[in-house]
Amino acid sequence: EQIVKGGYEHFMLKEIHEQPDAIKDTYRGRLNAKEGLIRMAGIDDNIEKFLNANRIVIIACGTSWHAGLVAEYIFEDLVRIPVEVEYASEFRYRNPVITENDVVIAISQSGETADTLAAIKLAKSKGAFVFGVCNVVGSTIARETHAGAYTHAGPEIGVASTKAFTTQITVLMLIALKLAKEKGSISKSSFHHHLQELELIPGKVKKALKQDEHIKKIAEIYKDAKNCLYLGRGYNFPVALEGALKLKEISYIHAEGYPAAEMKHGPIALIDEHMPVFVIATKKGHYEKVVSNIEEIKARKGKIIGIVTEGDEAVKGLADHVIEVPETLESLSPLLTTIPLQLLSYHIAVLLNRNVDQPRNLAKSVTVE
Ligand code: G6P
Repeated sequence: EQIVKGGYEHFMLKEIHEQPDAIKDTYRGRLNAKEGLIRMAGIDDNIEKFLNANRIVIIACGTSWHAGLVAEYIFEDLVRIPVEVEYASEFRYRNPVITENDVVIAISQSGETADTLAAIKLAKSKGAFVFGVCNVVGSTIARETHAGAYTHAGPEIGVASTKAFTTQITVLMLIALKLAKEKGSISKSSFHHHLQELELIPGKVKKALKQDEHIKKIAEIYKDAKNCLYLGRGYNFPVALEGALKLKEISYIHAEGYPAAEMKHGPIALIDEHMPVFVIATKKGHYEKVVSNIEEIKARKGKIIGIVTEGDEAVKGLADHVIEVPETLESLSPLLTTIPLQLLSYHIAVLLNRNVDQPRNLAKSVTVE
């Protein structure tokens, strides 16, 4: 087993560290930044379906649903098409309004999740075009969808999903960029800038991973917390949800993810000197607004751990700890900000002696309702 873990103590840690290569594998053969091209057969063959769609409906569960939320921001921003993101389990039972003018994107690492599969069948029965984003080649969802794109992340064994999340976002970004170019909703220069920045992401993820020892020290300080709050805005709101989910899944510490500005409508009542608050406060994502949210937390004596852009000074001055990630486009920042949150959950779970790769009550793939 040590051999398959590649010298890492757990599959989860191995998979966290595989992300630079996994992301590269996801865009390899699809992205050509020099020529300004994105090739994806599943999109090329069905481009009219996407361009003529009234809206895109994304269905998924768990971490894949969080990737779908990031995609909502990406698609609406770049492609200017309305997007709805639905939990597959809700979608399938609530008589949704779906027509042949809708494109449904189903996201699933395993390609076997029962609720997602049932939601796909329902969408197909209403005439929608259904596109799959799966990791497992030949999986049921990959076969049941009209077309699709694989993430090519390689096998993910740890129950808590890591590299599947970042590669799902990468695929969805490629799709959005391709559609935006075809539609003309993105300028030539912005399109090229996105391609170039995307190619820099694996190197930047590698750099973010180098914070591991620093993150471990922060984990030691907060491992006994009973509750944690994760805040982010815009593209990093779904990352806050995913950060909280990772902590819950493997450490069994209660954690909540929230849009930073919604804090004042409830969670702020929970903040006192015992509450660690992880705030994603990178430079391009409504930075000043997040800084003022951080000031509100500080005024209530909450402990602040900021995920910031390299060289940040303002948050450093306010927070108890900061973890730096390299600078990138706002739309690509989830690929970097999610890394320290994965490592943090991992280290807390190890320090608490949890079964990191197989947490209690959870399954890698939920094939029953
Ligand atoms: C389970 C796993 C999660 C995963 C979710 C959706 O709950 O433990 O890690 O995000 O299912 O799985 P899927 O394979 O459809 O992405």
